[in-house]
Amino acid sequence: VVAFGGGATTDAAGFAAATYLRGIPWVAVPTTLVGQVDAAIGGKTAVNLPEGKNLAGAFHWPVRTVIDPLLLQTLPENERRAGMAEVVKTGLLLGEAVWELPDAELVHRCVAYKAAVCLRDPYERGEREVLNLGHTFAHALEAAGSYASVSHGQAVALGLLAALRLSGLETGAVEQVLAPEPVRVDREVAWAALGRDKKTRRGRIRLVLLEAPGKPVTGVERPDEEVRAALDELIAD
Ligand SMILES: NC(=O)c1ccc[n+]([C@@H]2O[C@H](COP(=O)([O-])OP(=O)(O)OC[C@H]3O[C@@H](n4cnc5c(N)ncnc54)[C@H](O)[C@@H]3O)[C@@H](O)[C@H]2O)c1
Repeated sequence: VVAFGGGATTDAAGFAAATYLRGIPWVAVPTTLVGQVDAAIGGKTAVNLPEGKNLAGAFHWPVRTVIDPLLLQTLPENERRAGMAEVVKTGLLLGEAVWELPDAELVHRCVAYKAAVCLRDPYERGEREVLNLGHTFAHALEAAGSYASVSHGQAVALGLLAALRLSGLETGAVEQVLAPEPVRVDREVAWAALGRDKKTRRGRIRLVLLEAPGKPVTGVERPDEEVRAALDELIAD
């Protein structure tokens, strides 16, 4: 199987390859920024079920991943912005202004980072959790918008803002590069969705924050009021 396309394609084709005959080799050729810096890296494949996103999935690493940043030249601006949210996330995890690099280097740096983390933790038992920086809030906003009114890129940009604020760090890079605007969703629905986050343990929300740029910490528990206030700041009145 050769998966040539965005994250939706590499996820579905990778999952088909993972399950057909209990697994056949596949090659990923991601053609979007999201695909190149994120979706096609790390061996996770999945398809959505009516009950939720990514509910049928498998870890199945491609035998090869072919990345050509020239493919990004035809990418519409909104798709590029979606990818930049993951690029900024990677930059914050690395403590480097990766988003300022030209495309080819930016993609290379992000791939190297994600691949290294995932190869050290191929089945998501530990270190890989850092990749969820900003995503706890993002998923809550997307769910509150019924996966329609809030795009993933927009949600991740807002989630990064919340993570930086709770970390007591500068939000300048996120604001300048991603220009996130508060979204109109129901606050109670978003809060309930945050509580259902898969990283919740014994009812406590566990966050990925930064001690400093380049120094992520996982499993951080903060008082509910603080987390709720950070979430509320992302929602327009
Ligand atoms: N497996 C993982 O680890 C992982 C990580 C992140 C995201 N994902 C998944 O990836 C998906 C999102 O991926 P995406 O953002 O690439 O979206 P996508 O695959 O839906 O592609 C977005 C759009 O861009 C078009 N497109 C693709 N390449 C193009 C090109 N070179 N020029 C012009 N148009 C092009 C596509 O036809 C589509 O309309 C989601 O389903 C998400 O769940 C998976």
